[in-house]
Amino acid sequence: MTIKATNIIRHAGKVAPDERTAATGNRPCIVWLTGLSGCGKSTIAMSLEHQLVASGHPAYVLDGDNLRHGLNRDLGFSPEERAENIRRAGEVARLFADAGVIALCSFISPYAADRDAIRAMVEPGQFVEVFVDAPLNICEQRDPKGLYKKARAAIAEGRPLMLTGVDAPYEAPRHPEIHLHTASQSVEECVKSILAYLRRESRLVD
Ligand code: ADX
Repeated sequence: MTIKATNIIRHAGKVAPDERTAATGNRPCIVWLTGLSGCGKSTIAMSLEHQLVASGHPAYVLDGDNLRHGLNRDLGFSPEERAENIRRAGEVARLFADAGVIALCSFISPYAADRDAIRAMVEPGQFVEVFVDAPLNICEQRDPKGLYKKARAAIAEGRPLMLTGVDAPYEAPRHPEIHLHTASQSVEECVKSILAYLRRESRLVD
């Protein structure tokens, strides 16, 4: 990315992080769900958001499909465009966290370097990487959007679709804070284990 703006300065705010925590009950963080299409990222994120908000903790889902309808509508699925997609999402997630809101991010985010760049941008402990792990054959069986079927048909005709896990790469996290297995764990179990992690790490101040 070329940096084009010059002569810009940062303006410091008057609200300290502790004041936001007192107001929201959060030590806000970025919960980053990564995994193949159909692995359950969005379902888990939406359910987690519902439970957090119901218990008084501001939280908001930033979802790949949803952001691609607006902020990222100019981006496709080449490696460069996915990198830009994740960079923008990470910047927005950081703003949400600064505002005292737990950012729940569900993006395939197939490249480790793109995820690591967001981790490097925030304080230690503030980026919680959640590997939503399901074998490709299970995601393909679920195929909620019919994408795998489309990709297989396209490949048979010699047209690549660049679908992650099929004809585009997925780099699994090596040391995620949380590793979920959605072929054997229910949505409720997955949400519970993320909530337990956030409590253990004092991210939720009840
Ligand atoms: S990412 O790779 O850049 O992180 P993102 O999570 O924003 O992807 O968007 C993925 C969604 O776009 C999928 O859930 C799927 O609905 C849709 N999609 C369409 N084409 C593709 C493709 N070639 N690879 C992956 N997802 C795709």
